[in-house]
Amino acid sequence: MNSSLAQPDHSSSRIPHLPYVPDEYPREMARHYISASPEDIEAMLSQVGLSNLGELFSQLPKDCRFNDNPPLQGELSYKEATDKLLEVASKSKVIPSFIGDLLPVWQVHPIVSEVSQMRPLTTSYTPYQPERSQGTLVTHWIYQCVLSALTGFEAINTSLYDRSAAIFEAVGCARRSRKRNGHVLLAATLFPEDISFLQTHAQGTDLHLYSSPLNPQTGTLDYNHLEKLLEEKNEEISAFVFPQVNALGLLEDVDRLADLASKWDIPTIGVIDPMHLATGGLKPPTEFGERGVDFIAGEAQHLAIPPSFGGPGLGLFGCRYNEQAKQDLRNTPGRYIGKAKDSQGRDCFVMVLSTREQHIRKEKATSNVCSNQAFLATLAGANLLAKGEIGLKNSLSKALAARQQASEWVRQRDGIRLAFPDTPSFNDLLVVVDDPDRDLASKANQYGLHFGVNLSHRLPDYDGQVYKLSFSDVHDEKSLDLLKKFLLNHFPARSDQQDEAIIPERLLRPHPAQMPSFSHDELLHYYEQLASLNVSPDDGCYPLGSCTMKYNPLLNDWAAGLEGFAQVHPQAPEEDVQGPLEILYEIQESFKSITGLAGVTTQPVAGAQGELVGLKLFQAYHKSKGEEHRDIVLIPKSAHGTNFATAATAGYGPGIVYLEANELGMIDLDDFRKKLVIHRQNLCGIMVTNPNTSGIFEENFSLIASEVHQAGGLVYMDGANMNAIAGIVDLGKLGVDAVHNNLHKTWTIPHGGGGPGDAIVAVSDCLVDFLPGRQIHKDEKGVFRSFAPTRSIGTFHRNWGNFGHKVRAYAYLLRLGREGVPRMSSVAVLSARYLFDRLRTRYPTLPSRAGKVPRMHEFILTLSDDDFERLEKVGIAKSQAIPQVGKLFLDFGFHAPTVAFPEVFGLMIEPTESYTQKELDRFAEAVLVIKDIIEKHPNVVAGAPHFTPIDRVDEVSANRNLCLAESLEHLPALPLNRIQPKVLQDLEIDQIKKRLLAVHHIDN
Ligand SMILES: Cc1ncc(COP(=O)(O)O)c(C=O)c1O
Repeated sequence: MNSSLAQPDHSSSRIPHLPYVPDEYPREMARHYISASPEDIEAMLSQVGLSNLGELFSQLPKDCRFNDNPPLQGELSYKEATDKLLEVASKSKVIPSFIGDLLPVWQVHPIVSEVSQMRPLTTSYTPYQPERSQGTLVTHWIYQCVLSALTGFEAINTSLYDRSAAIFEAVGCARRSRKRNGHVLLAATLFPEDISFLQTHAQGTDLHLYSSPLNPQTGTLDYNHLEKLLEEKNEEISAFVFPQVNALGLLEDVDRLADLASKWDIPTIGVIDPMHLATGGLKPPTEFGERGVDFIAGEAQHLAIPPSFGGPGLGLFGCRYNEQAKQDLRNTPGRYIGKAKDSQGRDCFVMVLSTREQHIRKEKATSNVCSNQAFLATLAGANLLAKGEIGLKNSLSKALAARQQASEWVRQRDGIRLAFPDTPSFNDLLVVVDDPDRDLASKANQYGLHFGVNLSHRLPDYDGQVYKLSFSDVHDEKSLDLLKKFLLNHFPARSDQQDEAIIPERLLRPHPAQMPSFSHDELLHYYEQLASLNVSPDDGCYPLGSCTMKYNPLLNDWAAGLEGFAQVHPQAPEEDVQGPLEILYEIQESFKSITGLAGVTTQPVAGAQGELVGLKLFQAYHKSKGEEHRDIVLIPKSAHGTNFATAATAGYGPGIVYLEANELGMIDLDDFRKKLVIHRQNLCGIMVTNPNTSGIFEENFSLIASEVHQAGGLVYMDGANMNAIAGIVDLGKLGVDAVHNNLHKTWTIPHGGGGPGDAIVAVSDCLVDFLPGRQIHKDEKGVFRSFAPTRSIGTFHRNWGNFGHKVRAYAYLLRLGREGVPRMSSVAVLSARYLFDRLRTRYPTLPSRAGKVPRMHEFILTLSDDDFERLEKVGIAKSQAIPQVGKLFLDFGFHAPTVAFPEVFGLMIEPTESYTQKELDRFAEAVLVIKDIIEKHPNVVAGAPHFTPIDRVDEVSANRNLCLAESLEHLPALPLNRIQPKVLQDLEIDQIKKRLLAVHHIDN
């Protein structure tokens, strides 16, 4: 491949709409965001003995490669890309809206936008290295503390994908905790979209769902029916899920519901909206009935960001953790941050309870969630601190006052009335329009108003059209005046006024939430300090293998924040959301081209959820053929933990069969064939990561795929490593039936300190009709419409997935174009091959017999037996040697490589295409100096890290003495940055070495 193709104009100078000057960011302006110059590329090629980029892939079978670049558009210059993004965003109609419903919309404090621009917080990885991640860890700690204050729950995890996912995980947890595998009772008044999500997940598993019906007279649950149902079936029921504010916007009698379940000792899951729990709001879930609920689940996107066409969401999950209730916590999913001490006794924070997670327990994990919605948790914490007790209380009173006004306008008109006037509601208003033909929403739309949502489908037996309007602090005088004018003009006055129920005192918060409050200035300064405790891929190579920590363009974030994308509600009418639908359509079509497959769903929100979509598609496909008995999933032993955990979540736990690797690190064909013979009648499919987790392309992939197909099975490719092959390998030719692309890896979405990630799943022809969610179609007039596939497996998101991330990926693709995609992969592979070549002279590599096998985008180093011995002599056990060497990388201003996965004794390094040859050389020099230190001064390794804000963290004590939240009277004290990564990056590697040795009083 020619590395010096004719280039469009890349000069940018100042572009009027942008809040930054792109020219000031060299990585931002590099063509295809590849920092290496053509000369760098030539030099690196020459170092690895190749003459062009195409030769990097010569070991790949020819018949699985694209003949040409993928048929994407040509790349755009920076200015053209901003113009294009503005043009697409301008197609949205952003008008005052009372929609709310599945996704409430509240004002977020300006601190949110400021924190969103702090690159070391937005771009860093999951805080696996606590010594260099205190910034992220503290933001998550804050989130846990403030949500704990609001809800009363002692253990709040940080975080799950969204409300539906949080309910699903809570259900799993309740069943595990009580060792009951019975039915789960769902209130029929939950959002239907959440119920569909649960039904989609329950298919083919031992999770069975019962429904507790609605009382058509009250709009709430039928409590008498429920009482009887519990009396008759309590032994069959393993959990009961009910909302505080139901899908009609009406208040359930949470006391009665909690007490009814408690009478039969049935674990309860309360579905709440955290915003409702501020002072002046509804009672916290710890106070539902006599003893509160056991778990909470809810949506908290609106605490962090605008609607953003429905995502990224923020799944709130909590359980009790106190003297009386301890056992649930260890069965819960997701990430918790605990208080800890470092080896010098400094206060700090660390991730705890990781031993329940997929990367350790594989199919026995509590959940398959890996990347979560971490950065939204960071933002929600900052927003709540900035709004504080008074701000939150004011937000609620503004919402309630607006609702009260609207209620009065409605109650004084004829032809419109409250739907269930005797049932109280909080900040929603459920109205019914008597004339069934009256299309009120379109009429309001002509007024420049999104009136609310038509909920007639949730109340099929109700006469008239039912609409729900939601009120919040976003509703200013102007929007309320518009609503008033509309109501007054469309409905004549009536002489009397309809009455409405008032909320009984016992359903309200009995005491103030006492949320901590801090000034904007104080918080801004504090979060800036937090950011300085992290390291970012902006600072230099961030070599975490399998994570693809590449440069995240500023352009992407700017685009995602445009009004026509960020301020659009996911339930607005399709004609008003043409901008977002165009983005989804373009992504859908682009990823068909990039993968070479027939269909794409943009709904899944992370790689692990993409895997689940894939296996659920397999399940549905086999069922459609009458072959439901196919329950075996083959997975190579070295696969990422999510593969096993996902198979278990999909119902294949007992059917997982591990595949061995051969000495070259690829799937062992003999072992595969032996297992295929045993299981062929029951084979559901195979999951293969390609390139695999050792950075090696599975050369027999097509052969294996065809043998799986002959046995009636299907092929899932874990596409976490697409950065090595995007635009090069045609997955259709390879025999893939389903693949996920992690947008937060290959497609430049910032990792956010653990999420939100995102995923796109592409599928072969045979699975297209089963895809979840909605597909986007462009009609002959160029209008975008959505439709559900004919045999859809259901839904994986309440709306359209992590839409904001689709904008980012779209912006990236505009700048890459058809030449940029394969060029990006090529330079990523070249960078890895170049580093591998430089480092393997000193380090043994893994897999141990695969020295000569060409590496793709990453590679694994290890230590010699002598090195392990040297380290053992200074007190570092062999099992701890690799993680401890990782700590020395932090002292050189780098993040550590991925340690102990997929090889226990491996350091997995993935440089990506974002760095110049000089930067890669500097990194290589550091890795070589680390080897010198191991050999000559192993005691320096034992003391690592030296320059991070804290010393080695005592994770064992933190896990033993769990502290997951406390009252935040002060902002947590921060450790001092001994040497900032930015400063380290400016030092010569040798100077850093000298400083390290000096700490140990060693002369260089
Ligand atoms: C190989 C592999 N598969 C799956 C995943 C899970 O992806 P996600 O974190 O987006 O859920 C990862 C994440 O690191 C991975 O490296």
